[in-house]
Parts: sequence; C-alpha cells; structure tokens
Amino acid sequence: MPPSHPAIALPRLIAHRGLSAHAPENTLTAVKAAHDAGYQWVELDVQLLGDGTPVIWHDATLKRCSDGHGRLATLDLAAVRKLDVGAWFGDGFRGERMATLSDMLELLVELDMGVNMELKVTSKRSGTELAEVVVPRLLKSLPPERLILSSFDQPSLQHARSLADASLLPIGVLTESVPEKWRARCEALDAYSIHTDWTRLSARRTREIKAAGYRLLCYTPNDPAAFAQRWEWGVDSAISDDPALFSGIAPPPGT
Ligand code: G3P
Ligand code: MG
Repeated sequence: MPPSHPAIALPRLIAHRGLSAHAPENTLTAVKAAHDAGYQWVELDVQLLGDGTPVIWHDATLKRCSDGHGRLATLDLAAVRKLDVGAWFGDGFRGERMATLSDMLELLVELDMGVNMELKVTSKRSGTELAEVVVPRLLKSLPPERLILSSFDQPSLQHARSLADASLLPIGVLTESVPEKWRARCEALDAYSIHTDWTRLSARRTREIKAAGYRLLCYTPNDPAAFAQRWEWGVDSAISDDPALFSGIAPPPGT
C-alpha cells in the first residue's frame, strides 16, 4: 500500500538557510527575517558538534560564516557559543550566536513556521548518528504538516525512516541530479518529495516524478526568469536565497 503522507500545505517559495540573501545564513535572525518577509517555510542545515550537540550550520568548518576557525566535529557547545556568526555578513548582524537545533526549533514553534531540515553529513561522524539525535527532537517539536527531513546522505534518511513512519515524518530525497533509479530510492524511504538542483532537472524527469505522486522541490534558484519554465513543467517549490525575487512570478500553490 502507498504510504499516507501528512497534508502539507507546501508553499511555492521556501527561504534557503533562512532568508540568506538578507541575513547570515542558518541563524535565528535569518529565520525571523524570512517570517517577517512573509515566508512560512525555511530550509536549514543541521549537523553535530564534537560533543554531540546538534547545531544549525552548513559547512564542516567555521571559517566562512564566523570569526573562528576549525572543524565543527572537534568543538563543543561552549566553544562555538563564543563565536560571532553574524559580523561576517554585515555589521548590523554583529553578536549573532550559532543556533542549536533546540534554539531553532523553539523559534520555529513560536513563529508557527515549517522547515525543510537537511541532515548535513560533513564530518567523520555517521549520518546514522545524526539522524538518531535529530529526528526525535524534530518529532517532539513540530507537527508532520510542518516538517520535511532531507539529506544527500542515504544512510541518514534510511535510519530516520526506521525511527518514524511516513505519516509522522515526511522525507525528502536530496540529489544533485535525479538518478535513473529515483523511483526505487523514493519507495525504499516512503519518501514524500525529491529535492534537486534546478539547473540539472529535465522536463521529462519532472513529469515522471509528478506522475508518480511525489512533490518536487528545486534548490537554489535565484533567477526567476531562468527558472520560469520549471513551474510550467510542474515543479512544486523553489528553495531560494531571495524568494522575493519570485514575487508575482511563482504560480499560486497547488496550481
Ligand atoms: O536542501 C537544499 C540545499 O540546501 C542543498 O544544498 O549545499 O545548500 O545545503 P546546500
Ligand atoms: Mg541545505
């Protein structure tokens, strides 16, 4: 029997790493900015520190988005809490602190937002361990209608699925390009959606995926004119750094 998925009111536009064109990515401020700009859903990355604390962060290292250096997998919470993760983006963001998954979930609940949480397997830690830590916390905080868990890492998703069925945990298969065997991969995970690089998607693949009943999300379009054809093909959502660029261009949800 096909899995029964939650009734997600998936928006056309999702703010990538929060409103990352206008605020430091993956921070509480970036999520508040997305909310203030009228977006109900954000995409965020989560990974584990060396002490096992899940934090909202994209890279394996601190360098690009903080005033520190080093690998997250070697640091503990006390160390990363001392970092400034906003000043690199602009003076107005000075003093921003790295968000733990708990901080972020609290904010998402407060703002009544949905999240596409990406399990980011960047270190030597296993994706299985990441899923083990993250999934129960997501399920405790958010209803399934406001949650999609995605990852490029198949073992992470497989472990996540073993922890919760499709009615409780919508899973998105994240791929740089949709593989030939996309259907088997989705079926093995009782997946809700496929998330792929919009520049590598074809009209034919889009039609196949949609005909099979999966939602199709694209990262990370920031050029609405170049992306326009994908809406016509049937893509459901764009995960953009600057979703306002698509205002008045993206079709209404569900059309
Ligand atoms: O989840 C979509 C997208 O965020 C995947 O790539 O590198 O931006 O996390 P990345
Ligand atoms: Mg991501």
